Amino acid sequence: MSNLRTAGRPIVLIGLMGSGKSTVGRELSRRTGLPFLDMDAVIEEQVGKSIPDIFREKGEAHFRALETALLRYIENTVQSGAGAHIISTGGGVVLRPENREILRRLGMTVWLNVDLPNLLLRTARAQNRPLLQVDDREETLRRLLVERSPLYTQASHLRINSSGMKASDVVDSILRHAGKFFKRYRRG
Ligand code: S3P
Repeated sequence: MSNLRTAGRPIVLIGLMGSGKSTVGRELSRRTGLPFLDMDAVIEEQVGKSIPDIFREKGEAHFRALETALLRYIENTVQSGAGAHIISTGGGVVLRPENREILRRLGMTVWLNVDLPNLLLRTARAQNRPLLQVDDREETLRRLLVERSPLYTQASHLRINSSGMKASDVVDSILRHAGKFFKRYRRG
């Protein structure tokens, strides 16, 4: 197990649907011993409904409000010393400016940047993503990549171009950077 010291702060994974946030997050959790929190799963549990049902019954704006509320709650728990986590987010968490600001100050935020062919492969079978229940998944993902890349840049401290990389190699890279990144908090 890694002996990473994060000064009580989380490592947060952001990126498009299919970028591997959950897989990498679980592997990071296993390697560091830090608990894993998947924001989409927490919201589904809180509401007692799946993400597609929340979108269908209440709309995307309602889901975005739940996402921000959860992020604020996470920030409060980090500030009150609840301990570090590995956090995987939903792909649209960067849409609200407030969320991007929280992501910048929470801990270390890592953008898993994956190219279109790999995103297409990795989202081919999933039925649980309302934004991809469309005729032209490729066109939708291409548009989201263009629209959101600047937002992922703004919200993150580190970008990993992880197209075609194994999860364990992505984790190695994150841990190398995290060692340096969290030193600033330990000194401060
Ligand atoms: C969304 C991504 C999903 C989920 C919701 C909206 C998005 O999460 O939060 O369907 O706007 O990109 P994943 O990125 O984990 O699939």
